[in-house]
Amino acid sequence: MAAETAPLLTSGGVDQRPRHVAIIMDGNGRWAANRGWPRLVGHRRGAERVKQIVRACPDLGVNWLTIYAFSTENWKRTTEEVLGLMKIFRRYIQHEAEGMAAEGVRLRFIGGRDRLDDKLQGLMSSIEARTACNARLNLTVAINYGGRDELTRAATRLAQQIARGEVERPTEADLAACLDTAGHPDPDLVIRTSGETRTSNFLPWQAAYAEYEFTPTLWPDFTPDHLAQILDRFGLRERRFGGA
Ligand code: IPE
Ligand code: IPE
Ligand code: MG
Repeated sequence: MAAETAPLLTSGGVDQRPRHVAIIMDGNGRWAANRGWPRLVGHRRGAERVKQIVRACPDLGVNWLTIYAFSTENWKRTTEEVLGLMKIFRRYIQHEAEGMAAEGVRLRFIGGRDRLDDKLQGLMSSIEARTACNARLNLTVAINYGGRDELTRAATRLAQQIARGEVERPTEADLAACLDTAGHPDPDLVIRTSGETRTSNFLPWQAAYAEYEFTPTLWPDFTPDHLAQILDRFGLRERRFGGA
């Protein structure tokens, strides 16, 4: 959809398109199992979907996209699946780096990096540096991300700042500045595919006032048209933020 034709949804004259969309990309394993295929085939198909959704975002008016790729809990899966996923992440960065740099995508990662292999960590740092001046789409990928882990690391940092006398009485802004998402706007809308209606440790602080959309579509079947329909529905919501 071209920028000029994107629907401008308004309520009381306020532009209601979400600026920041976050997605829990779920259902790759079931998508593959439904066809009698190995789970990793579903993950590979899921990665193809990511490319399409990333390309569609700017024309849909989405300037920030945060996607959940691997949780702190996903290490419980088989070694084969975990290693397969890590390979998909490496390949995605290697193959997409050029295109993302050229298309104005700024790529960043959230989550603990220490547990990731050195090669992946190196690729992550170099693409972050390479795309740091881009602003057409801010793409954040959550790898080895868990909201509780992020908050624990942030609390540790904040405690160190207090111990050094840099912070006296911590505010919400002080804690937010210690999160992996420091400087990112909060998501307006969180989408979860595959029919599950839980948040699975994704952005508990940042999404405290987000709208949620749960769709039965499995991630490998989720198209830019599905996203466009969800964005249209978002425009009809009334967000109150605690006001009357
Ligand atoms: C989401 O798909 C991708 C990751 C969690 C890495 P799943 O692998 O969770 O797919 P289902 O939920 O088993 O279908
Ligand atoms: C959440 O999906 C994590 C990602 C999409 C990366 P899971 O499939 O891991 O979540 P649960 O196990 O259903 O809660
Ligand atoms: Mg799942």
